[in-house]
Amino acid sequence: MTDTPANEAPYRLIDDVDFGEGVVVGPFTNLYGCRIGDETRVGPFVEIQRGATIGARCKVQSHTFVCDGVQIGDEVFVGHGVVFINDKFPRATTGDGDLQTGEDWELLPTVVESRASLGSGAIVLGGVRIGAGAIVGAGAVVTRDVAAGETVAGVPARVRALSP
Ligand SMILES: CC(C)(COP(=O)(O)OP(=O)(O)OC[C@H]1O[C@@H](n2cnc3c(N)ncnc32)[C@H](O)[C@@H]1OP(=O)(O)O)[C@@H](O)C(=O)NCCC(=O)NCCS
Repeated sequence: MTDTPANEAPYRLIDDVDFGEGVVVGPFTNLYGCRIGDETRVGPFVEIQRGATIGARCKVQSHTFVCDGVQIGDEVFVGHGVVFINDKFPRATTGDGDLQTGEDWELLPTVVESRASLGSGAIVLGGVRIGAGAIVGAGAVVTRDVAAGETVAGVPARVRALSP
């Protein structure tokens, strides 16, 4: 592990990140407190938060947001503009009107198993597990677990009559 990616690119905020060998990170990225495995490629305008982990040989395409509590396996494809969610009932403030802190909400962890693919614009609710090799269609909203090898699409994401 190293604290710098394998390539140079402008306008990156990289703080306290564990990079594997040969990780390529695009410009305009914001990566902090996360772990990214060997040979993974992270596109421009991606944010990966503290507490997230990304496996080896993944592709994370531009404009994706990976939040705390998300664990992504190896060889996972994450399309453009994929959004992960970890707070089911978000509130800006507590009942007393103070800004919420990390103590005031429950983090729902999410797992994406190896070789799964998430289509562009997918939204993944917290607390779900997307099984190995599963495919999530573009624009899907994943609200429940997806079994290994399954293809789901739509809102909410369900197995539909799709090509094999
Ligand atoms: C989900 C997906 C894998 C399905 O592919 P497929 O099995 O070849 O499906 P088809 O194109 O034969 O479509 C079958 C049906 O599902 C619908 N469908 C396909 N993709 C869909 C999606 N993402 N959301 C909702 N419905 C979808 C089609 O409209 C069609 O419905 P119809 O029979 O009523 O017309 C594919 O459409 C998809 O979304 N892939 C992700 C692509 C992507 O985001 N790439 C990222 C980087 S470029």
